[in-house]
Amino acid sequence: MAPIRLCVVGADGRMGQEVIRCAGEGFSIVGALTHTGSPNEGKTLAELGLPGGSLRIEDPSKLSSLLERADVYISFTTPDAEMANISVAAGLGKKIVTGTTGFDQSQLDALRSVIEGHTEAVMSYNFSVGINFLAGILSRTSALPKGYDASMYEIHHTGKVDSPSGTALYLGDILSEARKYTRVVHGRSGRGRRSAEELEISALRAGGVPGIHEVVLAGQNEMIRIGHTAFSRKIFAEGALLAARWLMDVSDRKIHSMREVLGV
Ligand SMILES: NC(=O)c1ccc[n+]([C@@H]2O[C@H](COP(=O)([O-])OP(=O)(O)OC[C@H]3O[C@@H](n4cnc5c(N)ncnc54)[C@H](OP(=O)(O)O)[C@@H]3O)[C@@H](O)[C@H]2O)c1
Repeated sequence: MAPIRLCVVGADGRMGQEVIRCAGEGFSIVGALTHTGSPNEGKTLAELGLPGGSLRIEDPSKLSSLLERADVYISFTTPDAEMANISVAAGLGKKIVTGTTGFDQSQLDALRSVIEGHTEAVMSYNFSVGINFLAGILSRTSALPKGYDASMYEIHHTGKVDSPSGTALYLGDILSEARKYTRVVHGRSGRGRRSAEELEISALRAGGVPGIHEVVLAGQNEMIRIGHTAFSRKIFAEGALLAARWLMDVSDRKIHSMREVLGV
């Protein structure tokens, strides 16, 4: 079978580099892009110590021409970068895998209208198998009796700019639906009690932590704690590559979730 041809956007970022390292047999990197003015623009992947040899890292003005020879646009960048780049990829009918986080609602709405009806995409704030399995468990917290509270905290590296993490927001939406919360509280200080309609989500930023999400489900006399710890960014890269492979057999011009890819 011919390898799946990938155009990696944000190729010199933490996640982009991991995607290039993990894309072994069955994939070929045909395009690598970074931000205009990046010190890595024009360097080869080999110069960054990545597999892919003499392929050069280009700036976004080359996106269309690089996508011409690609099957899948795969990207971990910033919301602003995605707004520009995804419209190019969708306009060319290329399949899209994006793990970028931090979009606001109007950006998400705009992406939906650019992608749906034009191509297939997997968008996920977390590509790990474990987090998507955890999401499945949390969707069942509707079975817990009234009087049990759900709270969540997450810890990420100090380089992360969006807080709380996209994953925490995603898991929070699942908890809010299951437990009928109508408000989210991000940390507490001063006086005041928790009210029954509130979900708590707190974010901590420390060192180089790739990602920790902990959910606490507490009644008056017992507590359940369910957590997920990412040991390495590899899990996200491998999940994104799994999504790219899955998309090759899908042709419905819709946006899909990682839970659909994994069937959980
Ligand atoms: N979904 C998941 O499973 C998952 C997992 C981990 C991280 N993430 C998310 O993925 C995103 C990236 O994370 P990261 O840790 O890899 O960040 P990062 O190291 O800062 O990488 C971002 C990369 O995107 C590049 N970039 C910026 N603007 C661009 C543009 N217009 N066109 C092309 N490339 C552009 C940056 O270049 P410069 O450095 O030159 O600006 C950088 O190489 C974040 O939103 C993060 O939360 C998602």
